[in-house]
Amino acid sequence: MERLKRTKIVATLGPATDKQGILPAMIAAGLDVVRLNFSHGTAEDHIKRASLIREYAKKAGREIAIMADLQGPKIRIAQFRNAKVFLKQGAEFVLDADLPKEAGDENAVGVDYKALPNDVHKDDILLLDDGRLVLQVIQVQKNKIICKVIVGGELSNNKGINRKGGGLSVEALTPKDKKDLRTAIKLSADYIAISFPRNAADMKKARALLKRAKGNAGLVAKIERSDAIPLIDEIIRASDAVMVARGDLGVEIGDAELPSVQKHIIQRARSLDKVVIIATQMMESMIHSTIPTRAEVFDVANAVLDGTDAVMLSAETATGDHPAIVVAAMARICLGAEKQSRTLVSRHRVECQFQRSDEAIAMATMYTANHYNIRAIITLTESGATPLWMSRIRSGIPIYALAHSIRTTRRLALYRGVYPIYFDISKLDKRHLNELAITTLKERGALKKADRVLITYGDLLQTTGGTNTLKILEVP
Ligand code: PGA
Ligand code: MN
Repeated sequence: MERLKRTKIVATLGPATDKQGILPAMIAAGLDVVRLNFSHGTAEDHIKRASLIREYAKKAGREIAIMADLQGPKIRIAQFRNAKVFLKQGAEFVLDADLPKEAGDENAVGVDYKALPNDVHKDDILLLDDGRLVLQVIQVQKNKIICKVIVGGELSNNKGINRKGGGLSVEALTPKDKKDLRTAIKLSADYIAISFPRNAADMKKARALLKRAKGNAGLVAKIERSDAIPLIDEIIRASDAVMVARGDLGVEIGDAELPSVQKHIIQRARSLDKVVIIATQMMESMIHSTIPTRAEVFDVANAVLDGTDAVMLSAETATGDHPAIVVAAMARICLGAEKQSRTLVSRHRVECQFQRSDEAIAMATMYTANHYNIRAIITLTESGATPLWMSRIRSGIPIYALAHSIRTTRRLALYRGVYPIYFDISKLDKRHLNELAITTLKERGALKKADRVLITYGDLLQTTGGTNTLKILEVP
């Protein structure tokens, strides 16, 4: 039987994926989650893409999750009279919160975040355009930040500003984000990603807003501020998933810090039973090229080996030359890395005490799966908690999660090693449960006669947290 890819692929939609035939090709190549990037495009664009992906996923018989990624408070310069300027090294340059929006020149430019002068101090280092230009603050005079150009170059309209070391006080959700959150709920996004959260309170605030708007999406914290790193555990606990957003994060903490921080975040997320995504520039050269660089192959493979749930594509698919070829290349690299034995074995949390019966069943299942000749795990799930626990344990055995809630099914599309299947148990006679679950998988070609499978469920079906049974069965 064909080995299934366990690591999930998140791909950003954009003009390049709107072209005829691209989305179905991406799905066939191994796409699991689509990202709608609210930094670009209109609400109508996102709504249209969401309905298309639902349609194509249905046709392909696959569960594909939708992640709405809110823009967040990215701090940007305003605009120049002539669209761009060249800043010379050693020159003085002013970030002026009082300057009209389009009045920038080689001496000064406006900023969209009017409180920025309150957040910076003499000697701070400001990084423009993802760190390509470097300014040092000489003095703050009321609403003017007077800087010296340390590293110069071309600077064009609306480029981002980061402060080295972080510490900018701007709130995670802007008025635009609050509006976009409603659009995300309207298109029934399965995940909503919050950009630039500083702490757990930012995530809790987002969750309160989501609840008030009657949304039930999972919340993803994008880790892209250096302030978030020391608070990583509390942020993970307040979220359903975290994304290592290496673009902005790398600017704030410096590129050399990224690998150790990435590994740390993966480890903390898995330990705290949460999901983790690695993002940005994973296959960057494939925006144009048809093959990845060797460095990109290693980057994706290393993230897989470290235990990430998902790897993400941004411009590679949204504006790239061949989105489906990138997804196929990424899938191939994931499958290759997943052959390594250290992704297949686990120490099974031998030192842990379990808190709940369903958690204990999930752990017993994984221990059995990894130490006995088992073809597949079948878990009947209500909220998705049991397959989440299972997927935190390294294993090579597929976890088929049968859920009768379409929301749960789609959310599971992001979990490593979990294959969600919609399964209507409302009219089901419980005596035929095992039989029906096994038949469903046989029909999908996932099981054959004499395969040994593990199946978990609760005595009371359709009860959250009710899983209390593990059975070992042979396929008749
Ligand atoms: P972005 O976030 O693509 O929304 O900027 C990802 C990152 O910063 O890496
Ligand atoms: Mn970012």
